[in-house]
Parts: sequence; C-alpha cells; structure tokens
Amino acid sequence: MGRLQYWAIMTLSSPLWLAARARLTARFLRNPVRYCRKVDRRAMTFPDPVDGMAHLLVDNNGVKLHVATHGLGTGKPLMLFLHGFPETWASWRHQIQEFAGQYELVAMDMRGYGESDAPKGVKNYTIDYLVSDVLVVVKAAGHAKCILVAHDWGGSVAWHTAALCPEVVDKLVVLCSPHPAAFKDPKRFTGEQLKRSSYMMMMLSSVAESHIRNSDFREVERMLVEAPFGARRAGTFSQQDIDRVKAALARPGSLTGGLNYYRAAIAQGTKWRLEAAERIYDTPVVAPTLLMWADQDLAFLPQMFQQGEDKLVEQLTVVCLRDCSHWANQDRPEQPVLGRPASTSNRGSMIMLKVDASSATGVPSSPRPGTPRLVPKQD
Ligand SMILES: *[C@@H]1O[C@H](CO)[C@@H](O)[C@H](O)[C@H]1NC(C)=O
Repeated sequence: MGRLQYWAIMTLSSPLWLAARARLTARFLRNPVRYCRKVDRRAMTFPDPVDGMAHLLVDNNGVKLHVATHGLGTGKPLMLFLHGFPETWASWRHQIQEFAGQYELVAMDMRGYGESDAPKGVKNYTIDYLVSDVLVVVKAAGHAKCILVAHDWGGSVAWHTAALCPEVVDKLVVLCSPHPAAFKDPKRFTGEQLKRSSYMMMMLSSVAESHIRNSDFREVERMLVEAPFGARRAGTFSQQDIDRVKAALARPGSLTGGLNYYRAAIAQGTKWRLEAAERIYDTPVVAPTLLMWADQDLAFLPQMFQQGEDKLVEQLTVVCLRDCSHWANQDRPEQPVLGRPASTSNRGSMIMLKVDASSATGVPSSPRPGTPRLVPKQD
C-alpha cells in the first residue's frame, strides 16, 4: 500500500520533471555560456551578525553539525533556531541581533546545509535523524530544553521535535511552516494548495539539482528576491546575503542534502512507514506555540495554518504577518517573535525515536543521538 502510494506520487510528479527538463534544455540552448556559469565563492568570508559569536561543531553519530552560537554558558534560557530550504543558520541574523544577551543563542546549519556535513543517501534525511540532530545540539549546548524557533523545513523538524520529544521544547515558534497534519487534511490541503505544493513534487527528481544550480544558482536569486515569490522589501537580501546562500549550496553534497529532505519526507510517509513520521498525526504538541504565517507566502494558503479538527496543538496562537513573503524572518524581522505567556505545561515522557524493525524497509537502525561533543570549528 505504502509502496503503491509512493509510486503514485512519483508517477504523478513525472510530467513536472519532464517539463522542467524541457525548460532547462531550452535555457541551455538559448545561452550555453550563461547556463554553465559558475562563480567560485570559496574564498568569500561572511561577517557574523553580532560580535562575540562562537562557531562550533557538534557530532551526531559521525555527522558533524555546525552551530553558530552566542552567549553559551551564561545561564540564560536556550533559544535554538532551525532554518529552511535553501538557507543556512544566517537566515536568523536579525533575530540573533535582537536576542543576543537575553538568551543563549544557537543557530544551526541543519544536516546537508552550509558548514554541516551532508551525508549521502536519502535515508540519512528522514525525520528521526533530523530530530536527533536537534536533541544532540540542545544537549551539547548544556541544556535540557529550549525555545525552538523555526522556519520552513526547520518548522517541520520543529513540529516533530515538539510533538515527539515534548521535554526538550519549552516553547515553540514556527514561521511559514504548517503542522504536518495540514498536508493530510482535505479541508486544508485542497486542490489549490496542491498546485502551490507542486514545486515540492519537482524536488523529488534529480532535475531539481540542475534546476537550482544552472546559471550560477539563478533560481536561488529568483526565489529570494524576485516577484512573486521573493521578499516584499527591497534590500531584504543584500548581495552578500545572496552570496552566502549560494556559497553554502555550492559545498559538496549541500544542494542534494537540502533536496533530500523532500525526498525522504515522501518515502518515509509511504514506502518506509517510519514510525516517527506516522506518530505526528496523533501526538499533540503541548508546548505553547506561536505560529506565524505570511499573507504573501506563495507556498501556502492561509487555511494551512488553521488548527485542524484533530486539535493537535494544545496551546496555539496564530499570527498573520501582513505584506510579508515566505522569507518572513528576514522580510519582516520586526515581528513580535515571542509574544507568549510564560506558562508551560510538560506532559508525557521523552519518547525515543525508533524505526519499526519489522517493517523491513531497510531504514537504518534508530539514530540515537550520539554523545554530544562541542569542538571548535577550524576555519
Ligand atoms: C548515511 O551517511 C553515512 C555517512 O555519510 C554513510 O556512511 C551511510 O552509508 C549513509 N546511509 C545511507 C543509508 O545512505
């Protein structure tokens, strides 16, 4: 059944891949030199948003994660930031400036991105690995819990972390990332939303790498700054910001790493039947949750951010950001990120993420968080 669903999705997506291939071929024929253009950004350096940041590596069972930190060890609560596709920790530069000194801050490069390792294989990007990265980083930072702030794909990881490991998440702030259950709810995931999500189906094929990489990552620039998808405010992304994103995507394995999140998401929900992926549909989030959506976010219709009949988020506040694109943390950095009551409720015990061995899916054995180790990053 799951396998059938998987192949149905792949078959339905294949016309999109063919169309994308045709577009790329046309683009190549129009201007082969431009199509093949590559800029070497390896020598570029990018400044930190505030002074006194420390860049560290955290080891999760052999996968090294780069974290940009500020104020660790000062005894303040931990605020942990998870970025989305196709960005890096630096997408949180405004929030780091805002909250430096008030919290211990950690913005991670998620696996497959930026200066974190990009392990090979789609299976290395299933949600249990992504959640285990968060757990390891929280522990390595010397904390038991965090205020988890997340955007886009980071949001999906954050929803799973908050639901499946409630003890680790004190409060949850999600931008432009619907609860995973919204994607399965016909009232929220309508035909119109399916159209908006069709880019996700494009990501399932290797054509996506060419689509994004050609002409010196032209597509990245289009996504970030050009209408209709790009930031609403001119200057939201400086040339340096764009270079930083492109430089990160050009690292070996990086672009495929980011795309593998989409590929793993489809496979884990269908043919792999990953337990952590299934449990999200009946495990409520107990942490007080602030969900922000943007009225000009072309990826999602507003209904995707409504609470479903399942009431899977126990304490939910939903805020609409007006005249704001998908890139909300950068387009509207003045947003009220933490207008939350201080109350928290912790319920349930820590749930170990594990894979059902009997499902014979070939998914690697449960990625238990390794022993966290913080080591200074060499430049
Ligand atoms: C996951 O990544 C590790 C480290 O790069 C690699 O050794 C392993 O083969 C990968 N697993 C799969 C299933 O691809």
